[in-house]
Amino acid sequence: MLRTRVTEMFGLDHPIISAPMAGTSGGALAAAVSAAGGLGMIGASVYSPEQLAAEIRLVRDHTDRNFGVGFITSAPNTDELMDVAIEHQVPVIAHAFADPGRHIAAASQVGIKTIVQVQSVELARRAVAAGADAIAVQGIEAGGHTGYVGGTLPMVPAVIDAIGDIPVVAAGGIADGRGLAAVLMLGADGAWMGTRFVASEESTSNALSKQAVVDHGADEWVLTRIYDILTHAPFPDDIGERILNNPFIEAWTGFENELDEHRTELLQQIQQGSESGDLDIIRVLAGNSAGLVHEILPAGEIVRRVVAEAEMILRSRPSGIIIEGEADTSVA
Ligand SMILES: Cc1cc2nc3c(=O)[nH]c(=O)nc-3n(C[C@H](O)[C@H](O)[C@H](O)COP(=O)(O)O)c2cc1C
Repeated sequence: MLRTRVTEMFGLDHPIISAPMAGTSGGALAAAVSAAGGLGMIGASVYSPEQLAAEIRLVRDHTDRNFGVGFITSAPNTDELMDVAIEHQVPVIAHAFADPGRHIAAASQVGIKTIVQVQSVELARRAVAAGADAIAVQGIEAGGHTGYVGGTLPMVPAVIDAIGDIPVVAAGGIADGRGLAAVLMLGADGAWMGTRFVASEESTSNALSKQAVVDHGADEWVLTRIYDILTHAPFPDDIGERILNNPFIEAWTGFENELDEHRTELLQQIQQGSESGDLDIIRVLAGNSAGLVHEILPAGEIVRRVVAEAEMILRSRPSGIIIEGEADTSVA
């Protein structure tokens, strides 16, 4: 068993949180992860209030373990969806991409814990000042929307150094036990994993996206704002989205200022591409860790495999690489 401040805080068997992924993580995925001993998160922002209530009920029908609801907090529907999460007394709420302050206050008044996903040390400091119970540090390699500042490897210890005692989970680039073991060694209290769970049986991503995560390697995912500019998506300007590279992105990168001029025709092309399942133009949200994903699995099995591999590495690898004896400090 791996025990950290996050397993203690949220009553988990394993330090794994499935990321809230709008359009991908509904109640079925959250329930499967929580039932397996992790913390399953519903990605709320695509739902109506009634749909979100139904997804919350779905989790509770399947498991009595803790779970959470996560928001794209910059989206205009956050207030009404937060009301649903609070009314249903969900155990955990997560925010990202906007100032979470008043939402944290509203949740903590009724005993709900809040995790804030941040993309910089400065945002982590502000989230702690606003009352966050835990921080998810999101590196640039993360799938879906993320920042342009830095990778998970340097950002996690930098945030830990900056914020002190608040539990930190690492988000971005973790898809197997090697990644979980690595971030625990950085001092993180767990892994917040998205891409690996896109390719799970319970995710609500379409079949094409799930298979794309399996089929495409670590080199093929890029951070872009092209689709967000075209669709007027509700994200701050310093947030992009990591998606599967394609000829459409290659054609428009560097010409972002001209997108508005061609908006109608480009949106039509994207719509046609979606209808025909054309990977040359549609968006597949996932990160570089797709290169570590080789099959679509039940989410509970993903949790079990990642934990078993991390435990095995943490038991065996340090003793295999530390050589006992005097360090050689002589200079040649
Ligand atoms: C398909 C997809 C959808 C996502 N949707 C959201 C979302 O709705 N809210 C959010 O805060 N983060 C979202 N993210 C980002 C995740 O929370 C997380 O930071 C990321 O998946 C971690 O990196 P990884 O994909 O390498 O595991 C999404 C990621 C993916 C892959």
